Amino acid sequence: MTHPVISVSGLRKRFNLEAGFFAHFGRFVYAVNDVSFSIGKNETYGLVGESGCGKTTTARLLVRMYEADEGAITFIGDDENAVNVRALKGKQLRLYRQRVKYVFQDPARSLNPRMRIFDVLTSGPRWTVGTRDKNALWEEAAAILEEVGLSAADLERRPAEFSGGQRQRISIARGLLMRPDLLICDEVVSALDVSIQGQILNLLLDIRSKRDLSFLFIAHDLKVACYFCDRIGVMYRGELMEEAPAAELYRSGIHPYTELLFSSVAAGKDGPVQGPTVPSPEKPKAVTGEVIPLTKEAQGCAFASRCSRADAMCFNEHPELKEISPSHLCRCFKV
Ligand SMILES: Nc1ncnc2c1ncn2[C@@H]1O[C@H](COP(=O)(O)OP(=O)(O)O)[C@@H](O)[C@H]1O
Ligand code: SF4
Ligand SMILES: [Mg+2]
Repeated sequence: MTHPVISVSGLRKRFNLEAGFFAHFGRFVYAVNDVSFSIGKNETYGLVGESGCGKTTTARLLVRMYEADEGAITFIGDDENAVNVRALKGKQLRLYRQRVKYVFQDPARSLNPRMRIFDVLTSGPRWTVGTRDKNALWEEAAAILEEVGLSAADLERRPAEFSGGQRQRISIARGLLMRPDLLICDEVVSALDVSIQGQILNLLLDIRSKRDLSFLFIAHDLKVACYFCDRIGVMYRGELMEEAPAAELYRSGIHPYTELLFSSVAAGKDGPVQGPTVPSPEKPKAVTGEVIPLTKEAQGCAFASRCSRADAMCFNEHPELKEISPSHLCRCFKV
C-alpha cells in the first residue's frame, strides 16, 4: 500500500436495541467490533460481506454520520498532515466531509426530488465554502455531469425525470464535484437492474483511471469486489475476518467465510477476472437473508455457528486477526 489517505484502528460501534426507559438496561447490537484498516492514496479498498455485517456502519463512522464508541480515525489526505477525525467540529468537520464523500446505495432516496440537479450537486459545497460565483459553479457542475455520461442541459431537470442508473450517475457526480480525496461507494449498484450495474461499474473504473482518487468500495458480491478493488477486507458480524490484495484473495482466500462467499457467487470461478467486461453481479445463492448481528460481545469465533470446520475451541475462544503472509491477514484458528 502507498501512503495512506485514511486509517482506522480499533473502531467499535454498538446500537442500543431498547428505546426510552428500557435503554437503561442496555441490550445492544454490536455492529462494528474492533475494526482496523487503511486505504492508500489512489487505492481502492473493498469492504465485503453479507447484509448486516457492519459495512455501512463502518462507512458512516468514517464520515461521522455515526459517532464511534471507541477507536481512532486518522485522515491524512493530500497535505500529509494527520487529522484526528473524531475530534473535528463545525467548519473543520464540514470541510472534511468535502474531502471524504459518501455515495449512497439508493439513489431514489438520497436525491431530494424537489431540487434541480444543479442544486443537488452544489448545495453542499455552496454551504461549506460560502457563496461562490454561480457561473463558475454551473460550469463545474456541467463538466462533472458530462464526465458521468449526462449532459449540461440536465442541470435544469429534477431527479424524478431520470432512471435509476442515471440517478446513481448524479449521486456519483455529486460525490466528485469537490474533488475529494476519498469516495465511499456503499453498494452503489445493488439497487439497480443487473443490466445497468455493469455500466455503473464501468463508469467508476473510468473515473478511477482518470482521477487522483482513493475509493472505499462496499459490496456484498465478492467476485465484483475482486474485479474492482486493489485490496479487500471481508467482514462478518462486525469484524474483519480476512484482508488481502484482491487478486490474492481470489486465488487463495482462505477463511471459511471467504470460501462461503465465493462458493455462493462464483459458480464459474476460473481465475482472476480480467479484460474489459465487468462480471455481471449475481445475487448470492447459498448466502441469503441478513446476518444475525451479535447482541452480546463475541465469546468464540463470530462465524462458529455457520462454520463446517468449527470445533469446541471455536465456540469458546476468540480468534485474533493474524498475518499469514505479508499483506494477508486472517482470523481463524485453523489457518
Ligand atoms: N441506526 C441503527 N440503529 C440500530 N441498529 C442498527 C443501525 N444501523 C445498523 N444497525 C444494525 O447494525 C448491524 C450492521 O448493519 P449495517 O452496518 O447496515 O450492515 P451492512 O451495511 O453490512 O448491511 C445490523 O444488524 C443493523 O441492523
Ligand atoms: S475459528 Fe473456527 S469457527 Fe471460526 S472460521 Fe475458523 S474454523 Fe471456523
Ligand atoms: Mg449496508
